[in-house]
Amino acid sequence: MANDSLLFLILASLLLSGFFTKTSSAFSIEEAAIDDLRLAFKQNQLTSRQLVEFYLKRIRRLNPLLRGVIEVNPDALFLADKADLERKVNTPGSSGGLHGIPILLKDNIATKDKLNTTAGSYALLGSVVPRDAGVVMKLRKAGAIILGKSSLSEWSHFRSNGAPSGFCGRSGQGKNPYVLSADPCGSSSGSGISVAANMAAVSLGTETDGSILCPSSYNSVVGIKPTVGLTSRAGVIPIIPRQDTVGPLCRTVSDAVYVLDAIAGFDSNDAATGEAAKYIPNGGYRQFLNPLGLKGKRLGIVRDPFYNFGNESHLHRTFEHHFQTLRRQGAVLVDNLQISHVDTITSEQSGETLAMLLEFKPAINKYLEQLVASPVRSLEAVIAFNKKFSRLEKTKEYGQDLFEEAEFLSRNITNIEATLKKLVSTFRKLSKNGLEKLIKKHRLDALVAPSFSAVSAVLAIGQYPGISVPAGYDSGGVPFGICFGGLKGSEPKLIEIAYGFETATKVRSPPTFKP
Ligand SMILES: *[C@@H]1O[C@H](CO)[C@@H](O)[C@H](O)[C@H]1NC(C)=O
Ligand SMILES: *[C@@H]1O[C@H](CO)[C@@H](O)[C@H](O)[C@H]1NC(C)=O
Ligand SMILES: *[C@@H]1O[C@H](CO)[C@@H](O)[C@H](O)[C@H]1NC(C)=O
Repeated sequence: MANDSLLFLILASLLLSGFFTKTSSAFSIEEAAIDDLRLAFKQNQLTSRQLVEFYLKRIRRLNPLLRGVIEVNPDALFLADKADLERKVNTPGSSGGLHGIPILLKDNIATKDKLNTTAGSYALLGSVVPRDAGVVMKLRKAGAIILGKSSLSEWSHFRSNGAPSGFCGRSGQGKNPYVLSADPCGSSSGSGISVAANMAAVSLGTETDGSILCPSSYNSVVGIKPTVGLTSRAGVIPIIPRQDTVGPLCRTVSDAVYVLDAIAGFDSNDAATGEAAKYIPNGGYRQFLNPLGLKGKRLGIVRDPFYNFGNESHLHRTFEHHFQTLRRQGAVLVDNLQISHVDTITSEQSGETLAMLLEFKPAINKYLEQLVASPVRSLEAVIAFNKKFSRLEKTKEYGQDLFEEAEFLSRNITNIEATLKKLVSTFRKLSKNGLEKLIKKHRLDALVAPSFSAVSAVLAIGQYPGISVPAGYDSGGVPFGICFGGLKGSEPKLIEIAYGFETATKVRSPPTFKP
C-alpha cells in the first residue's frame, strides 16, 4: 500500500511534469517556431518547463564549443513552472504574446534579476542596474521567460578595431555553428549563434551599424533592425543613441515579428520612442505576415557597391536566382539603380566613425552613472580597468583603440557640439539625397541587398529599418542573408516582403558544426 501510493505520487508528478506527453508525442522542440510551441502548449504536448529544460541541456552540451551564451538565468525553471501554472488556470494573457517562450538577451540589455549585464566585459561584472531595460519590461509583460544573456563582440564592438567579431572577455570567442572556423559576425554574435543552434527559442540583439543584420546573415537567422526609436534603448549599454536600436534575431520571420510586436512601443525612459510610436500600426506587425506579401512590391537593386562579387561567383548566381523568385512572386525589380554619394556613405569619408567617437563617451558615461553600483563609473575608469586586467580582457592582444580615441577626442576637440552638429547635418543630407530620394523617385517599397554588404551604413546613418533573411550557403557552408531595407517606419512593407521571400525560398537549414 505504501509502495502503491509512492508509485502513484511518482506517476502523478511525472504526469504533471509532462514526462509522458513528452515521450509519447512526436513533438520536436528543435527548430520549433513560436506558432508550433503555442500549439503544442495548447494541445498539452509541451510545457514551458520541458522547453526550458531542453534549451538548458542544449546550452550545457553545445555552449562550451559555441560560446553563444554568457549566463543562464538561475530562475529560468521557476519562471517556466510559473508560466505552466498560469496557462493551466487560464490567467489572462497566458495563451498569447510570448507567454512561456524562452528568450536570450544580448548582454548589453539590462535585467533586474540574478543575471549580470556587462556587455561581455569584466569591467561591469557585479554592476547593479536600477531596473529592467524598457524592452525587458515589455517582454516580461508579454509573458516571455528570460533564459539568459547571449555573448557579443565586447562593448558591441566599440572597444577596439583589433578584436575579432564575437570575442568578449567574459566568454571568449563565439563560434559560427555552421563552420566553426568562420566568422560569426558581430556584434550581436551570441544571439545569432544561439538561436541558430537551438539554444533558445528567440533572442534580442542591438544594432548601431550592422550588428543585427551581419550576425543574422552569418548564422542563417532572421534579424530585424527596427527604425531607431521604434524599440526602447533605455537600460541598454549604448554606443550612440542616435543610431542604436534593439531588435530580434530568430529562426523565422514570424518569430521575429512576434518578438517585435512584444518590444515595440512607447517607453517613458526613452524619448525617441514617443516620436517613433506613430509608425506602429494598429494591431501591430503580425498582420503583415502575408505569404503573398511580394505581390506588387517594387524593389530596388543597387549593384554598385552592394553586389561587388564577380559574375561567375556562387553569390552572384544565388542572388540572380532570388531576383527571379521575387519576380515570380509578383514583385517588380528596378535594377541598376544608384544611391547618390554611396561611396561617401559607406566609407570613412561620411564621418560616421568620428561622430560615434564623439557621441560615445557622454552616452556610456550616462549609462555608467545611473547604475546602482558599479566597479566603473566612466569611460576613463573602463580604460584603466582594461589596462589593469589586460590578461582577462586580452587588452594587449586586441587593444582598446576606440575607447582611447573617444577619450582623447573628448579632451582634444574644443568645439565638439559644433563638430557633431555639422556631422549630423551631413548624415541628414546624405540620407535625404541618397536612399530617400531613390525610393521616392522610383516609388520603391524597399531596397534589396546582401545583408553582409555596406548597406548597413546606409541604414545606420539614416536611422532606417532593415530585415535580413537567410539566402544561401557559400561553397564552404558559411551562411549568407538577403537584406530588405526601407525608409523610417517601413516595417510593415519590409515584413510583407521578407515573409513572402521566406515562404517562397525556405533557405534556412539547421547548423552542421563543420570544423
Ligand atoms: C553574476 O556575477 C556574479 C559575480 O559578480 C556571479 O557570482 C553570478 O553567478 C553571476 N550571475 C549569473 C546568473 O551567472
Ligand atoms: C558582369 O556582367 C555584366 C553584363 O552581363 C557586364 O556588364 C559586367 O561588366 C560584368 N562584370 C564583371 C565583373 O564581370
Ligand atoms: C589635439 O591633439 C593634437 C595632437 O596630439 C595636438 O597637436 C593639439 O594641440 C591638440 N589640441 C587640443 C585643443 O588639445
